[in-house]
Amino acid sequence: MTKADIDGPTATGIAGALEATEVAGVLGADATPASGWWRSAVVYQVYPRSFADGDGDGVGDLPGVREKLPYLAGLGVDALWLSPFYPSGGVDAGYDVVDPRGVDLVFGTLADLDAVLAEAHALGIRVIIDLVPNHSSSRHPWFVEALAAEPGSPERARYLFRPGRGDGPPNDWPSKFGGSAWTRVAPDDEWYLHLYDAGQPDFDWSNPEVRAEYESILRFWLDRGVDGFRVDVAHGLVKAPGLPDLGRGDEPLVLAGVDTGPMWDQDGVHDIYRAWRRVLGEYGDDRILVAEAWATEERVALYLRPDEMHQAFDFRYLGAGWDAAAVAGAVSRAVEISSGVGASPTWVLSNHDVVRAVSRFGRADAVAWSAGIGPDDAQPDLTLGTRRARAGALLTLGLPGSAYLYQGEELGLPDHTELPPSARRDPVFRRTGGASVGRDGARIPMPWHAAHPGLGFGGHPWLPQPESYGALAVDVQEGDRMSTLSLYRRALALRRRSGAGAAEFAECRLEGRMLTVTTSALRVVVNFGGDPVRVDGDPGALLLESVPGALRDGMLAADAAVWLRL
Ligand code: NOJ
Repeated sequence: MTKADIDGPTATGIAGALEATEVAGVLGADATPASGWWRSAVVYQVYPRSFADGDGDGVGDLPGVREKLPYLAGLGVDALWLSPFYPSGGVDAGYDVVDPRGVDLVFGTLADLDAVLAEAHALGIRVIIDLVPNHSSSRHPWFVEALAAEPGSPERARYLFRPGRGDGPPNDWPSKFGGSAWTRVAPDDEWYLHLYDAGQPDFDWSNPEVRAEYESILRFWLDRGVDGFRVDVAHGLVKAPGLPDLGRGDEPLVLAGVDTGPMWDQDGVHDIYRAWRRVLGEYGDDRILVAEAWATEERVALYLRPDEMHQAFDFRYLGAGWDAAAVAGAVSRAVEISSGVGASPTWVLSNHDVVRAVSRFGRADAVAWSAGIGPDDAQPDLTLGTRRARAGALLTLGLPGSAYLYQGEELGLPDHTELPPSARRDPVFRRTGGASVGRDGARIPMPWHAAHPGLGFGGHPWLPQPESYGALAVDVQEGDRMSTLSLYRRALALRRRSGAGAAEFAECRLEGRMLTVTTSALRVVVNFGGDPVRVDGDPGALLLESVPGALRDGMLAADAAVWLRL
């Protein structure tokens, strides 16, 4: 596969083409016929510290996850992705790992994890876990040894230590979380690189010891029975030789968006993933690697070549906002690009790093999704946001490919947009001096029972829940056929019955603000506009609607979606 093979129209080209009514063509002419459970799987992201609290200490844990497995089976998901549960330094909600082979006491024990794996498997649910290879915690034994060792020592060579330039850091790289990406080590005046918080030193992936260590970590978890790994910052492991300046002055890095520069998406990362794919291959064909790679979609396709990863989140789709042309462009391009490498698209609308769909879509600037919404910002219209998010869910779940759901998405949870500064835990808030409120708003503990303390999550949730969560609790929604939870359950059941996730794409058509995606299983029509639009075809073909009465007398209501039988 050469670059030319995957180069299709550029993003601008697609947007231009969208001026016309019909936007994209047919998938699959050159796609390798392929199988694999992940290609059409619905994967549910569990953010353990906010999912369910088994021991009542205010922090979710693995016994909590275990207890809720029947809920997830009832929802109808195929797999779970567990965000980090490892012993951690506690600076970035678990993404600063002290022991990549362990379970933090706050989450339970390895035995609890084994129980989650066994019981999930018994329910037919696969489990993938987060792997954090770009950096460790500054409390990881290797980093502690590095600090105690001399400049130039093998202990320091596992990380990126460099002498400063004059009095300043070795280069001009900013941290993605704000401030410099370098911290000086007293007393020997070397600096170490951390693309994130100072508590997250970056590994040096040119060091064979680091590579061997991660292959051993993969085997450790594969031996325990995990079904795969979501690879954190998959595009960041290899840095350009010589660590050249970025040359962008004081401009901060985007928190969630396409990353460019000498620290991102270097060609050398692909050797690492090819080696990992070989390790997974020792365990059969069913274990997977999922890339979190914030690169252009053309470059993300490279991670999906047949001997590398199985999936990569489609962040262009996630970032398209409530904009028919942008969504149509993202869908068409994802189909084109993934088919070019024999992969299937991986749709995602929300995760723990971005403002939840309900809150994003409830703002006039629905595409401004990465910085977090705070009390001083324009507040979302939650009625509008919920209506649009329900329509967005039908689009996401109706598209061929895999779909990742973020816990609480099935309840239509919004972000907590009024957290006081004292409640904030995300290092982004601290490191940017509050310029970005950070991601805590999307990480609020789940509401399970409206009438119980902490809405059934537990006594004193580590982040406070907003008032709006009471009416959205699972027990309230379970009894309501019109609830968002009921909609997700119906959509997931119908998706499974109709084979929608594994269907062939036929056509993606944009007419004004109405998007119609036709596949071999069904037709999804979404009205992104504020006025009803006429839908052609047999009105008797209605399978599912995002809100009651979405389709009446051939007219599709504003901000609504339907699934139609072909
Ligand atoms: C991406 C993770 O999703 C995010 O939560 C984390 O802060 C960074 N990587 C650093 O590990």
